[in-house]
Amino acid sequence: MKKTQINDLLVQNILRYGNIGIHVIDKDRKTIIYNEAMAELEGLEIFQVLEKDILEIFPSLNEDTSTLIKVINSGQPILNSTQTYFNFRGHSITTISSTIPLYSGEVIVGAMEIAQDVTNLRKLSDQLLELQQELKVNKRDSKRSTQIKRYTFSSIIGNNKTLVLAKEIGERASETPSSVLIHGETGTGKEMFAQSIHNHGVRRNNTFIAQNCAAIPDSLLEGILFGTEKGGFTGAIEREGIFEQANGGTLLLDEINSMSLSLQAKLLRVLQEGYIRRIGGLKDIPIDVRIIATTNEDPRAGVDNGAIRRDLYYRLSVINIHIPPLRERLDDLQLLIEYFIKKYNKLLNKSIEKISDQVRNDFSNYDWPGNIRELENFIEGAMNMVSSKDKVLNRENFITSNFIPKTSNAENNMIGQLTKNSLPELLQDIEEKLILEMMGRYNNNITIAARHMGIKRQTLQHKLKKIDETQ
Ligand SMILES: Nc1ncnc2c1ncn2[C@@H]1O[C@H](COP(=O)(O)OP(=O)(O)OP(=O)(O)O)[C@@H](O)[C@H]1O
Ligand SMILES: [Mg+2]
Repeated sequence: MKKTQINDLLVQNILRYGNIGIHVIDKDRKTIIYNEAMAELEGLEIFQVLEKDILEIFPSLNEDTSTLIKVINSGQPILNSTQTYFNFRGHSITTISSTIPLYSGEVIVGAMEIAQDVTNLRKLSDQLLELQQELKVNKRDSKRSTQIKRYTFSSIIGNNKTLVLAKEIGERASETPSSVLIHGETGTGKEMFAQSIHNHGVRRNNTFIAQNCAAIPDSLLEGILFGTEKGGFTGAIEREGIFEQANGGTLLLDEINSMSLSLQAKLLRVLQEGYIRRIGGLKDIPIDVRIIATTNEDPRAGVDNGAIRRDLYYRLSVINIHIPPLRERLDDLQLLIEYFIKKYNKLLNKSIEKISDQVRNDFSNYDWPGNIRELENFIEGAMNMVSSKDKVLNRENFITSNFIPKTSNAENNMIGQLTKNSLPELLQDIEEKLILEMMGRYNNNITIAARHMGIKRQTLQHKLKKIDETQ
């Protein structure tokens, strides 16, 4: 089969079976492609839409409100917009959609809208906000803590010099309202630090809310952060965001480096001006929230590679805390092992005293990509395997935890690959992976991705074409 035939089949199958809605119109506004997923979303049948003028099918739209027509007229894409609307079957639907002009050379020949159904996500995020609201009300009523775990600095185990320094900075930070930026790999204790800072300071009796910025699409995150005002256009209901909910308290923004640059700009404005405005709202609401942000990559590298806005970085990193990964503080290994053995002896009713020499050796030669969390999970897993009389944790007890002692580090892996591939092949492979990752990060916007890679748009286009041909 020819490559073009394969491509055709591929496109047909994606259109038919993919769960992303696709609607393509030509420049005369006639629908030329309308797939099952889009029909399902909009509550229509494909035949009702195909070949028809878009304003005929959607009489409530006009030249200014139809995104497809707007894009044809302006030639500019509209990316990642969230909409909540009632579809033709009367269901309330929330979508994230992008509308892109289709060019043939310099001439616009049509426009394509791709839409993803995020109704369930929207419901979940609404539920989350409601639960947080309830917790806050409960707290007000009963003075109970809103948190399940309340960490303090004394819960953070370790005598390693860098860790002790980080704890000292954290303790001092808890006495001020300044923003804190915590940098550490996964499982190093960023959340423990953030909670400790909150619980040690004057805000301890107010709300602490943690929000992960990577798990939720950007357009929903904005509503979660700032709240929404009743709006016909967005279909939103009136609700306060977590900035308002955490007023007087602390807001932990986890994985800030995953937040889109445009939302980062909005966050910066809020931090500088000290008030928020709900989406669709007109009122400025003053807020007093202590921000603790975390990132799992070096924040300066994040700034350099375009994941973190430089101005926001300066604003957040008034106080910087770096938590070292476990492999850089193996001097704490013994202390941590003892601590977790004690913890799980109590929880699981066991009487373990130590780990075997062999396991100790394995542990000190391991990289610990999941850091303290990983260590804790290994020990908990192994302690589930022993009897209540056992005194020592042996290698056999760790079989369920996927524990593979370090055999090679990343460098060795690369050198290992060189025995299979030539240097140009390996470099080509790395380049492809980086390009595809950057394209994903910048929503396939070639101009912006190229700018962040420091290469010309045409160069990137050329490279993408080559990647496409080899795949
Ligand atoms: N220094 C420590 N002493 C005791 N326990 C620790 C320590 N650091 C981490 N832990 C344990 O590891 C778990 C993970 O820590 P935490 O959730 O704070 O990590 P994190 O850096 O926020 O990770 P992620 O980036 O994956 O969110 C904690 O729940 C705690 O049980
Ligand atoms: Mg965390």
